[in-house]
Amino acid sequence: MSLRILHIEDDKLDAELVKETLEGEGIACDVSQVMSRNDFVTAIDGGSFDIILSDFSLPDFDGLSALDIARKRCPDIPFIFVTGKMGEELAIETLKKGAIDYVLKTGIARLASSVQRALREASERSERMKAAGELKKSHEQLRSLAAHLQSAREEERTNIAREIHDELGQALTALKIDLSLMAERLRKDNGNFAVAEQMKAEVDVVNSIIVAVKRICTELRPAILDYLGLGAAIEWQAGEFQKKSGIECEVTINPENITADKDQSTVLFRIFQEALTNVLRHSKATKVRAALIRQANFIMLEIADNGVGIPEDLFIKTNSFGLLGMRERAYICNGELRINGSPGKGTTITAIIPADTL
Ligand SMILES: Nc1ncnc2c1ncn2[C@@H]1O[C@H](COP(=O)(O)OP(=O)(O)O)[C@@H](O)[C@H]1O
Ligand SMILES: [Mg+2]
Repeated sequence: MSLRILHIEDDKLDAELVKETLEGEGIACDVSQVMSRNDFVTAIDGGSFDIILSDFSLPDFDGLSALDIARKRCPDIPFIFVTGKMGEELAIETLKKGAIDYVLKTGIARLASSVQRALREASERSERMKAAGELKKSHEQLRSLAAHLQSAREEERTNIAREIHDELGQALTALKIDLSLMAERLRKDNGNFAVAEQMKAEVDVVNSIIVAVKRICTELRPAILDYLGLGAAIEWQAGEFQKKSGIECEVTINPENITADKDQSTVLFRIFQEALTNVLRHSKATKVRAALIRQANFIMLEIADNGVGIPEDLFIKTNSFGLLGMRERAYICNGELRINGSPGKGTTITAIIPADTL
């Protein structure tokens, strides 16, 4: 395939010289020669060229203006000056402005290698851009997949919790009542105390199953989050954490009746749980301070512990799925997650998400 050249040149002989030189080196050329600004603009807007060669000064146009136009309209097409004379300073100036090279007509033998290098570089650049574009696209796809999985998971947890609560919870309560009544009747009617005692023990078993079912539902998705809101859920979770771990957990909520929509509440609550899990597993902390704060246009959740501090190289460890998950959750709400840790001073996790203006 011929090389499509747009050549800005007023001298016919010079234009031929350029074509012959390239063809002499085995580069087949299809040259469009232009001399004026109008023709140049029409040519680049209308045609697809592989390369632009340009003289420096022409009667009605000039190479620097051409370069300027080309940078704006077709920055991917390499631009080489082919000119009678050009001082070193000017040559450097043109390179700074985006020309790939300059070839003097007196040294025209260099033209073919200059053109080949320019084309090679342009194709490498476009490959790089393509690869970067594909990478960005797959990155975006992964992020939206992560967001989708998070919300699907949350929805599933809510449904399972509801099913268990409605189906098992009611059946167990009915069973408990029946067993209690039967135990009572046995004791009264037949005086069969042994069996009645055994049945009472069964009632205790059912009771502990009811407690376990409630706990499982709450672990799947605490009802408090849906009924009493984010602030109450955070306080409740902090209390549970303190009971379980023995680590003091102080919560500040400001304003007290803070509200967030359902997705934001879920995101912040899950970040809080994950952060507390990390405190328990890794920090050796004795105290956690958490703050949920609503400002005019964002909500901030901060969890600070006084433990060993998270090492900075772990922020980006590929298998730190806890931290990555927190970051992705914040991202789902167009927010961000900041991790601060210094050895000996503890770790602070801060999630900030934009909220509707008050
Ligand atoms: N509060 C914390 N204090 C100290 N180190 C922490 C804390 N939170 C996280 N880390 C460190 O960061 C690492 C990554 O955390 P995470 O992504 O949640 O993964 P995981 O908890 O599964 O190890 C942890 O293994 C731990 O070394
Ligand atoms: Mg973790």
